[in-house]
Amino acid sequence: MEGQSMPARSTKSGRPRLLQMICIFIVALIVLVGLAVLIFWLAVRPKRLIYTIEDAKVYGFGLHKNSLNASFDFVVRAYNPNRRMSVYYDSMDVSVAYGDEKIAFSPVEPFYQPRHNVTKLEVKPVAHNFALLGAVASDMRHEKGTGEIEVTIRMRARIRYKVGVVKSAHYKLRVVCKRVEVSLNSSRGFNRAYCNVHT
Ligand SMILES: *[C@@H]1O[C@H](CO)[C@@H](O)[C@H](O)[C@H]1NC(C)=O
Ligand SMILES: *[C@@H]1O[C@H](CO)[C@@H](O)[C@H](O)[C@H]1NC(C)=O
Ligand SMILES: *[C@@H]1O[C@H](CO)[C@@H](O)[C@H](O)[C@H]1NC(C)=O
Repeated sequence: MEGQSMPARSTKSGRPRLLQMICIFIVALIVLVGLAVLIFWLAVRPKRLIYTIEDAKVYGFGLHKNSLNASFDFVVRAYNPNRRMSVYYDSMDVSVAYGDEKIAFSPVEPFYQPRHNVTKLEVKPVAHNFALLGAVASDMRHEKGTGEIEVTIRMRARIRYKVGVVKSAHYKLRVVCKRVEVSLNSSRGFNRAYCNVHT
């Protein structure tokens, strides 16, 4: 009886040992990858990109019934505070909203932003004979009397980070700049507006 059970036991314990080895290997791999990510993170310490609107003007403003003409001219300051990480902007677009309605749109040429760099983008979204919703048009007509209109500027981009020679996958970048006061008199000054950045 004992002689029969001996070989049976050794073949039984052979498989669990292989499984055990595989488990140890997988755990070790996870720990190693985790450590690599941690070391990379500590070395690079990624910081969030910082966006502000430095200037906002509007030219050719015309509002007739529900139809809007407006040529916006924005200076966007994009700051990459990272000392070890540069950014590829593979696509980007800027939109202007008044209330909930998107009134103008402009694409931005793809660009590369080096490490620790400030890039100023000039973007010029245009509303040409744009049909506003009735309520939006009457709000705007009302606000026009104050000499300035308040808009929300939104930017969407597809970006990749680069550290050394390593490039990341694509990330979506969303920038929202609320309550940007655009004076209808372009010779009046502008107060810098700060934006929220989400990746
Ligand atoms: C917008 O501009 C066009 C010409 O470019 C003009 O025909 C139209 O009347 C203007 N609309 C408003 C509301 O100013
Ligand atoms: C930021 O990078 C751009 C593009 O390479 C360059 O033209 C610009 O001079 C840089 N700005 C600063 C402040 O270094
Ligand atoms: C625009 O603003 C400037 C400076 O504040 C002022 O001198 C000028 O009269 C204004 N123009 C209009 C049309 O309101």
